[in-house]
Amino acid sequence: MNLAIEIRKLCVTYGRHGRGQLNQPAVNNLTLVVRPGEVFGFLGPNGVGKTTSMNVLLGFMPATEGIVRLFDVDARHSVARQRIGYLPEMTYCCKFMTEEELLCFYARIFRIPRAERSRRIAGVLTLVGLEQAGWRQIKTYSKGMQQRIGLAQAQSFSTC
Ligand SMILES: Nc1ncnc2c1ncn2[C@@H]1O[C@H](COP(=O)(O)OP(=O)(O)O)[C@@H](O)[C@H]1O
Ligand SMILES: [Mg+2]
Repeated sequence: MNLAIEIRKLCVTYGRHGRGQLNQPAVNNLTLVVRPGEVFGFLGPNGVGKTTSMNVLLGFMPATEGIVRLFDVDARHSVARQRIGYLPEMTYCCKFMTEEELLCFYARIFRIPRAERSRRIAGVLTLVGLEQAGWRQIKTYSKGMQQRIGLAQAQSFSTC
């Protein structure tokens, strides 16, 4: 079907309260599709289930019901994540590393061949405007620079 994201009739309920009552669904019957190349804003008031939906999409937690697919692969399979990048609200990374060490680490996780790594890393650092800061530990970066490193890791190594 060639969809980047496909969510159909997603329902998620978090466990039980102490008295044995089932919680209200955190996500109730969500259906949406995103096509390749489309920019999609996923907006809504606090508590409507955006983060929960993202967590299911990224395979961090299971759906209670419904279909969730990334590029036609069920989001429960780790292979689905080979074709996507993810930039969380807060950048989590090993801040004692330099940006090059960090991106090399991600490149290895994504099994980018050694011969290709340097070229890919240099390209993505130029894209996010960080090529000048290569020798510094990430902990010395400003928040904005750390976000740019996060953006670099999110978009550089997916196999799309
Ligand atoms: N770990 C959790 N355990 C139980 N309930 C949760 C948990 N995380 C979120 N919720 C509940 O699920 C609903 C949706 O939360 P969330 O997905 O974080 O919403 P949003 O990101 O749209 O603000 C809320 O009612 C929230 O209280
Ligand atoms: Mg949220």
